[in-house]
Amino acid sequence: MSSYAAFYRQSIDERDAFWAEQARRIDWHTPPQTICDYSNPPFARWFAGGTTNLCHNAVDRHLAARAQQNALVAISTETDTERAYTYAELHAEVQRMAAVLQALGVRQGDRVLLYMPMIAEAAFAMLACARIGAIHSVVFGGFASGSLASRIEDAEPLVVVSADAGSRGGKVVPYKPLLDEAIELSRHKPAAVLMVDRGLAGAAMRAGRDHDWAALRAQHLDAQVPCTWVDATHPSYTLYTSGTTGRPKGVQRDTGGYAVALAASMRHIFQADPGDTYLCTSDIGWVVGHSYIIYGPLIAGMTTIMYEGLPIRPDAGIWWSIVEKYRVTHMFSAPTAVRVLKKQDPAYLSKYKLSSLKALWLAGEPLDEPTAQWIGSALGVPIIDNYWQTETGWPILTLCNGVEPQAARLGSPGKAVFGYNVKLIDEATGAELTAPNQKGVVAIEGPLPPGCLQTVWRDDERFVNTYWKSIPGRLIYSTFDWGIRDADGYYFILGRTDDVINVAGHRLGTREIEECIASHPNVAEVAVVGVADALKGQVALAFAVPKNAAGLEAPEARLRLEGEVMKLVDARLGAVARPARVHFVSALPKTRSGKVLRRALQAVAERRDPGDLTTMEDPAALAQVKALVTE
Ligand code: PRX
Repeated sequence: MSSYAAFYRQSIDERDAFWAEQARRIDWHTPPQTICDYSNPPFARWFAGGTTNLCHNAVDRHLAARAQQNALVAISTETDTERAYTYAELHAEVQRMAAVLQALGVRQGDRVLLYMPMIAEAAFAMLACARIGAIHSVVFGGFASGSLASRIEDAEPLVVVSADAGSRGGKVVPYKPLLDEAIELSRHKPAAVLMVDRGLAGAAMRAGRDHDWAALRAQHLDAQVPCTWVDATHPSYTLYTSGTTGRPKGVQRDTGGYAVALAASMRHIFQADPGDTYLCTSDIGWVVGHSYIIYGPLIAGMTTIMYEGLPIRPDAGIWWSIVEKYRVTHMFSAPTAVRVLKKQDPAYLSKYKLSSLKALWLAGEPLDEPTAQWIGSALGVPIIDNYWQTETGWPILTLCNGVEPQAARLGSPGKAVFGYNVKLIDEATGAELTAPNQKGVVAIEGPLPPGCLQTVWRDDERFVNTYWKSIPGRLIYSTFDWGIRDADGYYFILGRTDDVINVAGHRLGTREIEECIASHPNVAEVAVVGVADALKGQVALAFAVPKNAAGLEAPEARLRLEGEVMKLVDARLGAVARPARVHFVSALPKTRSGKVLRRALQAVAERRDPGDLTTMEDPAALAQVKALVTE
């Protein structure tokens, strides 16, 4: 048995001993007595009774040995700024932020919602929350007022931290008007809003509610806010993600399990050492940003780089110039970004000295072979695919323990990661598929390892019913992804089993987009499907039935309505959710019982055979779709 196979087996067969060992990678105020309490499945309580603090492990713990080492470098090609914070400086900034949050009334267990661009203050705010035991909930800055409002309503934050604006491709995107609108829309009203003024857009401040970060920071320059020791099971954050229904789910993460899982991943997945430098190009609004821009690298004592900007601006060499300048050792990105770079002049890759780089990890969407091969030969380092979810917080499938890059199989994110008892399940019968090369649902036998979601925020029932009861006859966690496993244990991910789509690595729920489009006064019915796209992996296509088709015969009129629908999505959900096209049809293809045949729609839009259509009510509806997409 290879050493990884033995390591993996131990993580499953001697679970508690394995994780007790990993738990020594972090500092505990009170060491845990129990490792995994799984007396009430599927709720796993990792390290219950142990007390620790995420911010202590990410910041304070490193002060003795590396106070003067850079902890965080915030680079923005949008504002042409670059600022490095040593661990000592980060420690001071986080305490200032913590003191300000406390002054605004935040106590342990309170929620703080962050709606922020990729600026250092966002990291301060996350760490400050962790420091005082408050639960942060970061909402991606690309979301608009409707998405933000539903998250404010669910998280019920006492304080919202935001900034005047984000910026993308040189275009300033004011945040404050969207935030004000979202608070207006939400039934829950935060007591205070803390605004970071970047001097980009200005912000109308509401007296009594809105506060200026710089002004309050100045009052707390010498703040000393000790870490609050919390139980390992104390929630550290919630992060909203999409599923089958329109209502986003608040994935709730614990403290101790998460810290241990990340520390273990930094060692056994990334082989990271203190002093190494990590560049993760995700956004703090996504799970990858939480785990591998902020917490993971800092827990490991690395320097982490936060980057605001596009991968091709000012030119396609920007990331590689950062790698050269900061001697980046570990890089994490998404296949879409690499496909964008692949279209640019390859000379940008040879222009910089990249000898510091050990490997590039890619996640979030399927990594296609041409992309993997191109970037692998351009960089001359291993390209390591890894598969996971917002729910799990860290990789489920990848290659661990520095296995030789030639061990990678193109198209496969690798094998089950330690701690994850991954199974393939027959969707219809619930039976485990043990023979190689069979297609099934990728599932994980409980308990989920440390670091994974504890529950859905304030909705245990939804946690159980959504994730653990979708497979008949057994309590097992479903990833909602199809997969196969070859004879050597390598998995291949074949796409979602539900209505979630993946646009440029961004996870979107088609139902959420449908609900938004259906609120247009001239839309009677709509179906949104994800369609394969060479650059973004998938794009969303909408097929809408107008309420009043009169006047829509002219192509200009249809274009105008399409434009209105897109604007509506931009305004409510954000441009990330905007469909690539909105096609108007007289009817949607449905079964006789009235269910929209989304899979048939998707197949036809991808010019594939839609398969068995015997249950279809009106074949003309699908014929119309076919004509439209071939147009
Ligand atoms: O469908 C899988 C796809 O992205 C989903 C999770 O997205 P999200 O919650 O945003 O978390 C991303 C964390 C990296 C999965 O259910 N997915 C993620 N990584 C891969 C992937 N599909 C194929 N290959 C991957 N490496």
